[in-house]
Amino acid sequence: MSRGHYYVGLDIGSAEIRAVIAQEISFEEPLRVVGVGTTPSFGMRRGVVVDTDSVAKACNSALEQAERMAGHPADNVAVSVSGAEIACQNALGVIAVGRADGEVSEDDIARVLEEVQARLTMPLNREIIHVIPKDYRLDDQKNIKDPLGMHGVRLEMNALVISSSTSHLKNISRSLEQAGTSVESFVVEPIASAEAVLSTKQKELGTVLINIGGSTTSMVVFEDGDLLHLSVLPVGSGHITNDLAIGLRTSIEVAEAVKLQYGSATPDEIGKKEDVDLSIFDSQEDALVSRRHIAEIIEARFEEIMHFINSELKNIGREELLPGGAVLSGGGALLPGAVDLTKRVLRLPVQIGYPKPLGGILDQVDTPQFATAVGLLLLAQANQSHKHSFAPGKMLGIVPAGIHDMMNSIRRWSKQFLP
Ligand SMILES: Nc1ncnc2c1ncn2[C@@H]1O[C@H](COP(=O)(O)OP(=O)(O)OP(=O)(O)O)[C@@H](O)[C@H]1O
Ligand SMILES: [Mg+2]
Repeated sequence: MSRGHYYVGLDIGSAEIRAVIAQEISFEEPLRVVGVGTTPSFGMRRGVVVDTDSVAKACNSALEQAERMAGHPADNVAVSVSGAEIACQNALGVIAVGRADGEVSEDDIARVLEEVQARLTMPLNREIIHVIPKDYRLDDQKNIKDPLGMHGVRLEMNALVISSSTSHLKNISRSLEQAGTSVESFVVEPIASAEAVLSTKQKELGTVLINIGGSTTSMVVFEDGDLLHLSVLPVGSGHITNDLAIGLRTSIEVAEAVKLQYGSATPDEIGKKEDVDLSIFDSQEDALVSRRHIAEIIEARFEEIMHFINSELKNIGREELLPGGAVLSGGGALLPGAVDLTKRVLRLPVQIGYPKPLGGILDQVDTPQFATAVGLLLLAQANQSHKHSFAPGKMLGIVPAGIHDMMNSIRRWSKQFLP
């Protein structure tokens, strides 16, 4: 491991774009955050690029801020991918163990991972982003976590395959090229977010991470240390703002300010007589609106989002069954009452997720909104360390970004393990 290696995480959200540069002094020490850039997002809708030029400009601005602070260029960026185009499916790969003595080698594990992809009939307009091994079967022995060094004839891998539309990934790559940098790897947003905020213990116990962004809400479920399920909903905290604009008959700007200053997801806790004077946000406005009414509008949309999460948990047989509870990240997690309302709908313990402590100018990234960007850094570091130590039981396949220029690219892999 080279001293002073730099990592760059770029979270291209629908509301904000966040760039973080971190330096690795040694692998034993936490990464040091040395540069941070944040800029409002343009050209994204519901997690996907709708205008590459605008996205390029906004990314450039966030990256430049971070570069100036770090005094280091933002090369080889780890980028978040979101949007309802993300799909997750279970897949199986089977191979015959290569060595004559039947001992499972690193090569066998790499081959069975390739076999998972080869067996999948992925439509031409979709690309695999991650292949995440869940467990292995070696002859009659099931539920093996790490088969390396074990003996057998037939090796099976159960994996979770996460894919997105090819055009979406290409558009991100094009925007980043226009911004003067290149994509090192794509990571699906809630996987990055979970990396930053969930402990190993929470992943073992069974926990759902819910990232509430501006226009998407995404979830990942971990159990026994493995990623069990992932889903993205094209509804986020920005929809709460839209509902307020309609309900209060005001502009999006005033609705957003009202949400940030007076918003709550728990109307029962608000006195009936508390009013908000909209003229403090815009002199053109003269309405007095009830704070409880504001909270009722927010509650309706937030509850809808959480019912969606609950039905996803029900679909995988984990409704009310995750001892590690739910952890909220993303800007929407900061809404007062978000924790209580989530507890009520999911009937689970709930907490807000803050990124794991890093060194350097940590205070700038110590918020749930930075969970994705920090997770990108941690996964980029783990990927780098993987090049130095093979840990197949915990691999997370990540497609290197250059590959999206080629149609038959899914066979070229860089593999990454979750630390
Ligand atoms: N203190 C706060 N209270 C309530 N809501 C907040 C707060 N801070 C931010 N938000 C909301 O969080 C949302 C933005 O969250 P975030 O920055 O995580 O989204 P994003 O990553 O840009 O979007 P996406 O992940 O959907 O592409 C906005 O709707 C904003 O209003
Ligand atoms: Mg986001």
